[in-house]
Amino acid sequence: MSTSDLFSSQPTPAERAAELRAQLNHHAHRYYVLDAPEIPDAEYDRLFRELQALEAAHPELLTPDSPTQRVGGALLDELAKVRHAVPMLSIETETDTEPTGALNFDTRVRRALGLAEDALAVEYVGELKFDGLAMSLRYQNGVMVQAATRGDGEVGEDVTHNIRTIGQVPLRLPADCPAVLEVRGEVYMRRDQFEALNEKQRAKIAAGAKGEKTFVNPRNAAAGAVRQLDSAIAAQRPLSFFAYGLGEVTPVEQGGPTFKTHFGLLMQLKAWGFPVAEQTTVARGADELIAFHQRIGAARDQLPFDIDGVVYKVNSLALQRELGFKTREPRWAVAHKYPAQEQLTTVLAIDVQVGRTGKLTPVAKLAPVFVGNVTVTNATLHNEDEARRKDVRVGDTVIVRRAGDVIPEVVASLPEKRVGGAEPFTMPHTCPVCGSVAVREEGEVDYRCTGGLFCGAQRKQALLHYAQRRAVEIEGLGDKLVEQLVDADVVKTLPDLYRLGLMALANLDRMAEKSAQNILAALEKSKQTTLPRFLFGLGIRHVGEATAKEMARHFGNLDAIMDASLEQLLEVNDVGPIVAQSIRTFFDQPHNREVVEQLRACGVTWAEGAPAERAAQPLAGKTFVLTGTFPTLKREEAKEMLEAAGAKVAGSVSKKTDYVVAGEEAGSKLDKARELGVAVIDEAGMLALLQS
Ligand code: IVH
Repeated sequence: MSTSDLFSSQPTPAERAAELRAQLNHHAHRYYVLDAPEIPDAEYDRLFRELQALEAAHPELLTPDSPTQRVGGALLDELAKVRHAVPMLSIETETDTEPTGALNFDTRVRRALGLAEDALAVEYVGELKFDGLAMSLRYQNGVMVQAATRGDGEVGEDVTHNIRTIGQVPLRLPADCPAVLEVRGEVYMRRDQFEALNEKQRAKIAAGAKGEKTFVNPRNAAAGAVRQLDSAIAAQRPLSFFAYGLGEVTPVEQGGPTFKTHFGLLMQLKAWGFPVAEQTTVARGADELIAFHQRIGAARDQLPFDIDGVVYKVNSLALQRELGFKTREPRWAVAHKYPAQEQLTTVLAIDVQVGRTGKLTPVAKLAPVFVGNVTVTNATLHNEDEARRKDVRVGDTVIVRRAGDVIPEVVASLPEKRVGGAEPFTMPHTCPVCGSVAVREEGEVDYRCTGGLFCGAQRKQALLHYAQRRAVEIEGLGDKLVEQLVDADVVKTLPDLYRLGLMALANLDRMAEKSAQNILAALEKSKQTTLPRFLFGLGIRHVGEATAKEMARHFGNLDAIMDASLEQLLEVNDVGPIVAQSIRTFFDQPHNREVVEQLRACGVTWAEGAPAERAAQPLAGKTFVLTGTFPTLKREEAKEMLEAAGAKVAGSVSKKTDYVVAGEEAGSKLDKARELGVAVIDEAGMLALLQS
């Protein structure tokens, strides 16, 4: 203990409260903004509770910037109006989503500044255009005193009570900040947090909670949270914030900051504790703007939040002043959009499609709509529960989303726009293609047609699956041809493919003799295949390419696979009970074995190996238990050797145990083995087994 400690007096409650606030603010910034906490959550909670207790005991110490005020509690009758000291302007949108959008802006700026063709490139800042809602945060003497929405740009709404709950928004700024500072930026919700919120909402609705709903998109959820009258509700909605500009600031003459560039002011905001998007960059001239637009466009789907474009701003604040404003928008900034990922359209019909394994999938047929850079006419509704949950009906106006290469989906239906008296969707209980009964098994979400290969839809899919490049590969056997072959009943099973003659093929629509010959040649070529490709091509449920490879490696030949017991199948890498059962069920059906035999008879072959893995795995299927201390091997070494030979090493003895390997001072496991009559061997005996 140092002498100063001995003589220092206890801090007063006011001092301690200030100290705790400083610490909590520091750690909140590390946690929420920098994503780099220095202390465990429990320690933060401890400091937090100490401050809460202190403020409860000394209410006069409570300040609006105290971190305890983030948790929410204020309940309002209505949101108060706020007149913005500096209007919140909007920003011009460049509608041309191609790179020329950036070029157009640069040309306008250069012309307005009267720059000659050969003058230097203008310097810009490239920012993300966040898809949330604009917010103005007002700080007086470093304390956040007000948060307001944009409203009509002149007058917004006071949402301070809710914005306080956002961990990323600093409540107090460092001492070097100006006396008055308005920070403008965007409140938004991250996609993962949006999904988690909706998951919670669904659970509440399922539990019968009244007045709860799910949200259409993160923007919507964020907007709803920001305008809550009850800040306790807002506190439960995970919101985030990015700063991108300033409102009113103490003027330079009164000691305010002297920013020269937009980028410089953003970096200062960052230093004061505000989140600034890491993608924010300085770009010189149109070329670098175009590169920025393309780079962000390519990374868009990997961002954890939604953006609908990028924003370009002239970097020099002096040039910004020179450019000035058109009525509502600055001439020094522009938003350059990306193609929308969500659009409204109407549902023309709900079809039910039948997949290869008989799975029935409801698909919304849509009025064509351009979204995510393609024209979408179909969107999956996944299954009956999904379709019901979203309550999508024929004639409905729906939001369609297509992000990246993900298949388009219906995000939500807008029932308030429903006109006709369309009924809720119900899944048919018979297959729409073959009329067989469709069943939904206990615990499954999908209905399945029980028609098997009798079902034309399943047959088509089975043929396409077998013929695909990753399976046996029959070049030229695509959708159209399979469609005709099945509809004309020329091909009923896989082996029928190899029985096709030139005449049968040439008789089909749009099939010249030359193409028919090509198909025959491709069929011939496909006969030479490999075991994994063939296995995968059979289309056994749950057996993908990787599983087929593992099975082939493990068993070496097809007969061994067809005859393998469930236990033996379970020994294959990555094969669990569901996959094993599916393989067993498949080969237990005589007609499937028949298909395999006929394919072989038609000349489909592959190199068969001995059950390679088994030869190297003399102890496959055997279970060992180790107990006691061995003379030469460590327990872990013995275990590894046994496992390498295919054995399982279990922790306790049961009737299923094949051998107990006992060393010195073997205990209760040895007794148990004797009781159950399990074979007991020593280390030497085990090594002998491994040799055999
Ligand atoms: S600057 C004077 N920068 O887009 C310029 N706005 O119409 C004021 N937005 O509602 C806006 N990201 O909420 C700016 N990096 C960004 C932005 C951004 C999103 C929103 C803003 C406003 C709209 C502009």
